[in-house]
Amino acid sequence: MNVHDSERMAGLLDQAGYEPTSDDRDADVIVINTCSVREHAEDKLYTRLGELRVLGEETGRPPMVAVAGCVAQQEGDALLTGTNGHVIDVVLGTQRVKMLPILLNKAAESSASAVDIAPWDDVGFPLGIARRSDPVKAYITIIEGCNDHCAFCVVPNTRGHERMRAKADILAEVQEAVESGRREVQLLGQIVNHYRAPDDPACDFAQLLREVDAIGGIERIRFASPHPRHAGTRLIEAIRDLPRVCKHLHLPLQSGSSRVLRAMRRRHTRDEYLDLVRRVREAIPNATLSTDIIVGFPGETSEDFDETLSLIRTVQYHSIFSFKYSVRPHTLASQRLPDDVSADEKTARIVALQSLQREIQTGLHERLVGTTHEVLVDHTSRRRQAEVAGRTTGNTVVNFPVPDAGNGRGAEDWIGRLVRVTIRRAGPYSVWGEVADSG
Ligand code: 5AD
Repeated sequence: MNVHDSERMAGLLDQAGYEPTSDDRDADVIVINTCSVREHAEDKLYTRLGELRVLGEETGRPPMVAVAGCVAQQEGDALLTGTNGHVIDVVLGTQRVKMLPILLNKAAESSASAVDIAPWDDVGFPLGIARRSDPVKAYITIIEGCNDHCAFCVVPNTRGHERMRAKADILAEVQEAVESGRREVQLLGQIVNHYRAPDDPACDFAQLLREVDAIGGIERIRFASPHPRHAGTRLIEAIRDLPRVCKHLHLPLQSGSSRVLRAMRRRHTRDEYLDLVRRVREAIPNATLSTDIIVGFPGETSEDFDETLSLIRTVQYHSIFSFKYSVRPHTLASQRLPDDVSADEKTARIVALQSLQREIQTGLHERLVGTTHEVLVDHTSRRRQAEVAGRTTGNTVVNFPVPDAGNGRGAEDWIGRLVRVTIRRAGPYSVWGEVADSG
């Protein structure tokens, strides 16, 4: 979602007549789009502001600096005084993305910084403006904000309450993505399976998937993220039945202990989650699963953590994203639950979790050797010429050499192609293969 906000801001600046540069020294304006979901992400802003100050002193021509995203929303005016004298010209809240060019003008014309972090309920965004950063995949927002208030999570504070985008706007943007040559769309929302179309109340997320699937020209549909609590039969059947919907489900778990899940206010138990996984596997045997895990949530005992490990072993995820708990401002946990798992213990738990997961996914990848998959090529290898990589429907990264390199056709040509690849070798994070046929 943060990347897509950057695409929108870049597009708005294009419209306003700015040109992109990859060299900080050339820039008249630098926009830092921040994330505050974890403390580590937030710290990056302060590092970047320090770099820009040094740059300004060196060149004698400091660029205008705009801070956008969740840290801007969270800190507001305080950013202007609280950052060790770094000069910030614009502070732009998460609901005010569309105001960026106007605020830059305002700050340029006066000596004061422009701050705008007010709420804005209109989640419309003009079609065709976002400057998409990926040649193959288009991000498309369906919901902004969240009302769930999981105890650890800052999002309801930084992105506001949940607002649905009109179905007509979503379908028009999918159409536009197809026309711009994109082969895949990724539907975005904090809880995508909460979706209800404001312009068609009978349309839920499963129905939205059906309507997106019916748009000609799109090859693949992904979405992030559903909440396990709202994942029911209609969603499972939509994934099973719709040919373009990828057979991969990212189902954030956070903890394998029902006790910790309750403290986190996730509103489901370990058994309910395992039951959902069982139903997904029954309906779609080849579906892959991935998840998010937080280690060291307040009060997490080593027995609770063992329950996470045992669930990970049971489910056999193709990948996981794991995080050490960090206190986020204004969250329920920050107000009520002491951050009582030591830093060393959090490190020990995340290391144990990641090493177990590495073993599991290496095993899953080894089982793919000898099988053939459709791979949507999305980038060329940085290390090897004439090698490209893409993903299977299950989201496994597959690397392979392009057969016609040397005939004057570069690897670049392969980006966006759907290719059948036979897997020959497995690693922990990706697999290697060769083209099965060039059809
Ligand atoms: N500490 C650690 N991880 C967190 N996440 C969200 N909030 C926190 C926090 N306070 C993780 C969750 C979420 C992912 C996007 O970030 O796992 O699913």
